[in-house]
Amino acid sequence: MKKILIVGAVGQIGSELTMELRRIYGNDNVIASTRKSPPSETVAKSGPFEYFDVVNKQALETVCKKHNVDCIVNMAAILSAVGEQNPMMAWDINMNGLFNVLEVAREMKMEQVLVPSSIAVFGPGTPLDCAPQETVLKPSTMYGVTKVAGELVADYYVKKYGLDVRGLRYPGIISNETLPGGGTTDYAVAIYYDAVKYGKYTCFVKEDTRLPMMYMPDCLKATVDLMQADFSKLKHHSDFNVGAMSFSVKDLADSIKKYMPGFTIDYKPDFRQAIADSWPDAVDDKAAREEWGWKPSFDLDMMTQDMLKVIGEKHKKGLI
Ligand code: SER
Repeated sequence: MKKILIVGAVGQIGSELTMELRRIYGNDNVIASTRKSPPSETVAKSGPFEYFDVVNKQALETVCKKHNVDCIVNMAAILSAVGEQNPMMAWDINMNGLFNVLEVAREMKMEQVLVPSSIAVFGPGTPLDCAPQETVLKPSTMYGVTKVAGELVADYYVKKYGLDVRGLRYPGIISNETLPGGGTTDYAVAIYYDAVKYGKYTCFVKEDTRLPMMYMPDCLKATVDLMQADFSKLKHHSDFNVGAMSFSVKDLADSIKKYMPGFTIDYKPDFRQAIADSWPDAVDDKAAREEWGWKPSFDLDMMTQDMLKVIGEKHKKGLI
């Protein structure tokens, strides 16, 4: 790949993926972009940046032509919780944005498109203890509906047009650089910030809520490994389960207490409880392991130590 465009480069994953891809492919070869929010200083100063709305196909095409883009990574999405507040906006950005990305990539004969999916594709009917790769996909959120449809549309472009489209079902992603925006799994990030700032956290899902989660270094590794995988070896394309950790909120709180004995937690479940309850505890990622060698590195305690260290330093410097 010579020129990669990241759509949604100021979000939780996009901001860190931009820097990782710039490290690998060179700063000038990774164009970051977003709809309206300004990028972090690191992203803005290290390479090209463009403002446009992915639902505007012409604007996307202009940017791709300007920079001779041959790979699009589409990180723009409205997540599960915000999507339930505004389902039509979620449909518009997640589906029409995706169609524009796929169409522009097809018309310009691009080398590759990366389209992330999510554990939100699962729902009632999916075995919730460990979601298989091939299973019932009947999500109850609009975010999940767009992710199921997105996987199908992406695979359609592979079969019908021979376009190289790849994607993975991210679990809840935990990170300390950019806050997640509007997802159900956001509690697993907020808990660390509140632990450092206030020594306590009020969680919006119950203590026995267990979901698949992944630390950002593993998320970046999974994304890059899939992008670099040999296309001819892939049997799946846009729907890889990728597992790393599975823990309940109580496990998470206990892990924090090991390093911050005074930490306390209480629970005030809201509408996000039903969303969390519709998602599996863990996923079976055998296909990702077999087809492109997926293997995570971080477990819960390793992640907790790193999160508390980095967020603790930010707090001392007055950055949060
Ligand atoms: N983190 C996402 C959400 O909670 C799941 O992919 O919506």
